[in-house]
Amino acid sequence: MRQLIVRPELYQFDTARQFAEAFELGEGDLVITNEFVYEPFFGALGLSCDVLYQEKYGRGEPNDEMVEAMIADVQRMKEHRRVIGIGGGTVLDISKIFALKYLCPVERLFDREPPIEKSRRLVLVPTTCGTGSEVTNIAILAFLKRNTKFGLADDTMYADQAVLIPEFLENLPYPVFAASSIDALVHAVESSLSPNATPYTKLFGYKAMEMILKGYREMTDKGPEARLPLLRDFLIASNFAGLAFGTAGCGAVHAMSYPLGGTFHVPHGESNYAVFKGVIDHYLERKPDGEIAALAEWIGSVLDCNAEKAYEAMFELLDRILTRKTLKEYGVHEEMLESWTNEVMNGQQRLMRNSFVPLDAEQVLKIYHKLYE
Ligand SMILES: [Fe+2]
Repeated sequence: MRQLIVRPELYQFDTARQFAEAFELGEGDLVITNEFVYEPFFGALGLSCDVLYQEKYGRGEPNDEMVEAMIADVQRMKEHRRVIGIGGGTVLDISKIFALKYLCPVERLFDREPPIEKSRRLVLVPTTCGTGSEVTNIAILAFLKRNTKFGLADDTMYADQAVLIPEFLENLPYPVFAASSIDALVHAVESSLSPNATPYTKLFGYKAMEMILKGYREMTDKGPEARLPLLRDFLIASNFAGLAFGTAGCGAVHAMSYPLGGTFHVPHGESNYAVFKGVIDHYLERKPDGEIAALAEWIGSVLDCNAEKAYEAMFELLDRILTRKTLKEYGVHEEMLESWTNEVMNGQQRLMRNSFVPLDAEQVLKIYHKLYE
């Protein structure tokens, strides 16, 4: 059984300037990023690379129309030897697609009709502490016509280098910090409960949980500003969680959050959080022993409580970091839950097969109903 995939080389720099110098950013590079990232950190460096601002092509999570519009612009530029993605999950996922030889139509690419071949070197630099996408081989894209998200996972899509730069996190607004770090925590928990978890993935997953939960405790004790000296830890924790789920996979929380994120444009971390407790409660009801009990011991040791109270204590802590809303509060109608269940069962088996206990349609629908109000 596969134990751990470690593909990109990992780098860390204190500042964006150090990164730009060490990686000799310039001619032949296509930088995919956001203006609010590029301008303050790279603008004054006068780099001669081509730059695409993702937000000019649409807001929110990546979708097929956004990528098609970006491809049209890139095809008007001269050939690039390297793609450098600097941003949150959206930017990093899109950048993976731009390192491929055949790009469009994107819908066919995700159906694997043109062969998936890489033709440019790929460097990924996360600017949030959640995605983990810098060390995985998956790009998730929403297909607007199909109203859900699909993942394209292929080993050719690993970055050649992943670069952690804590400086980027200093400007992260609190809601983005909260949602993205909870996403990283969900990666750590889901990958540790996955049937594909190994001692190696759990080493990274458990450590990520410890770093994130300890950071949250600091923040609830001393206020949200207490995160600032811990930003490097949060960035490393999200990278650890990325290494864990890159091999062991995420599960039902991610699968069940996609219809919510896709339909109501809820940020990825927040939509995960909306279903996280419902899924964990269901697992505990169905199979309270095994890995979920081992994990409870660990969370209990981090939060100074006994294992029986560990999940309760964790969700109490998380509720103080990010508000957990019911599906109804997002505007979901109860009759939508059946079609969401079908979507999950038919379209998200890549994730559903990593669930801690196998879930059928009836159980998925039951979880959705519990989360409804
Ligand atoms: Fe995620």
